[in-house]
Amino acid sequence: MHNHIRSLAVASALLRAGSAAVLDLPVWFRNTYALVNLQVGTPVQDHLLVFDTGSGTSWLADKKCADGLPRNGYDANASTTSFDLGVYNSIGYLGGATGGFTYRDVFELGGAAAWNQTFIAANQSSWSFIPGDGFLGMGFSSIAQPATKTVVETMIEAGLLDEPKFGLYYGKEFEYTGADGAGDGPGKGSSLSGDLNGTVYQLWRSTLRKFTGSRRLNDEEGEDGEPQSYNGTLEWAPGEANGVFDTGAGMISVPDGRIAAMYASIGWDYEDLYWGRRVPLCADFNASWSVTFTFSDDGVQFYDVAITGDRLARNGFAGREDACTPPFDASGSEGLVLFGQSFMRQFYTVYDFGGAEVESYKPRIGFGELKAEFRPPGVDGKEMRQ
Ligand SMILES: *[C@@H]1O[C@H](CO)[C@@H](O)[C@H](O)[C@H]1NC(C)=O
Ligand SMILES: *[C@@H]1O[C@H](CO)[C@@H](O)[C@H](O)[C@H]1NC(C)=O
Ligand SMILES: *[C@@H]1O[C@H](CO)[C@@H](O)[C@H](O)[C@H]1NC(C)=O
Ligand SMILES: *[C@@H]1O[C@H](CO)[C@@H](O)[C@H](O)[C@H]1NC(C)=O
Ligand SMILES: *[C@@H]1O[C@H](CO)[C@@H](O)[C@H](O)[C@H]1NC(C)=O
Ligand SMILES: *[C@@H]1O[C@H](CO)[C@@H](O)[C@H](O)[C@H]1NC(C)=O
Repeated sequence: MHNHIRSLAVASALLRAGSAAVLDLPVWFRNTYALVNLQVGTPVQDHLLVFDTGSGTSWLADKKCADGLPRNGYDANASTTSFDLGVYNSIGYLGGATGGFTYRDVFELGGAAAWNQTFIAANQSSWSFIPGDGFLGMGFSSIAQPATKTVVETMIEAGLLDEPKFGLYYGKEFEYTGADGAGDGPGKGSSLSGDLNGTVYQLWRSTLRKFTGSRRLNDEEGEDGEPQSYNGTLEWAPGEANGVFDTGAGMISVPDGRIAAMYASIGWDYEDLYWGRRVPLCADFNASWSVTFTFSDDGVQFYDVAITGDRLARNGFAGREDACTPPFDASGSEGLVLFGQSFMRQFYTVYDFGGAEVESYKPRIGFGELKAEFRPPGVDGKEMRQ
């Protein structure tokens, strides 16, 4: 639990939705959480919400639930446009549950767009420690609670977006390298196709086929006098493992049965970390090692997303300033690699539904490299989700 709230700082990153007049939402950082500011109700009230590509339903703490906490609760009674849908919903997250009555009310983006949005006004939440008023669900409505829809799909339906997509980056400036987003295929960024479960899309995800960890062995020189490098590769059969891109999660969570081999490939001993025999120092997060995840949904086109160790550092581990959170933890599932904020904030990502109606969806997620000067500074990282 970390309810220590720092002062607000605009980190000038943004969440943008594809529209002629691009709708930009600056991303705010509060105590390592990334949030966006929306206006809700009539008269409007500001609410800071954690954006979560890993869930479908948005929720705001209700007024009573927020009482006494440094947050702004939703007060249905004080909004003339509030509509009670008469449904009590409970959302189960990996970290706990949130429940409340379901409402529809007007959401606004700084006067640039307004629409009727369904959400839960939570009277109970296991997220009482978050430094915001709730969550903005940005997955697919197929996993949303009864009577609710995701924010972006609601905006698409309301005709507010020219293109059914949104982009995100956590960087330092209002700049990004992808010309028109990073979803144009490999080159500037890679483009992965989305998730189909039966007939519905549920999460922003792609089929994971390969992991490669590489490291330079600085002290050993080969016959040519150059530093030697080593790499270790793990593979998954088609359909065996999914990579889920989840901004609501904290780090990279990998299959329990593979985690030791993944650490070994970058020269780290998982057992030592697990039993606390080794506390990873931030100095161990350096560009001498890198990890590459390879995705392919069709087995024909393969997309690599690579990152060097220095970019995965999140300091403040084990209460020490010089220690950093280990790069991987166990996901609890052999078929799941969860890419949380430690990974996602290193890229400009574009989430493209590929169609304006559910029937025509062809989701793709694009990864664009951020120029070094636009990469986010290290934040003291605590996990958002267990
Ligand atoms: C809204 O008003 C109703 C009826 O007066 C009351 O039961 C309810 O507790 C109020 N809700 C809040 C959040 O104050
Ligand atoms: C929200 O819905 C109400 C009732 O259907 C409608 O009158 C209002 O114009 C809608 N507001 C927006 C911003 O779409
Ligand atoms: C939230 O509302 C539900 C439904 O009315 C109720 O069962 C539950 O006890 C409430 N929780 C709290 C913490 O008041
Ligand atoms: C597909 O959806 C079903 C029902 O929601 C779920 O049980 C199953 O785990 C999903 N499959 C994958 C690969 O996520
Ligand atoms: C791994 O090592 C092999 C052989 O040493 C090399 O050909 C390959 O390019 C390396 N792969 C990566 C991702 O570093
Ligand atoms: C880089 O990190 C590795 C562990 O991943 C460590 O062994 C090595 O000493 C580090 N290099 C420097 C220059 O700190």
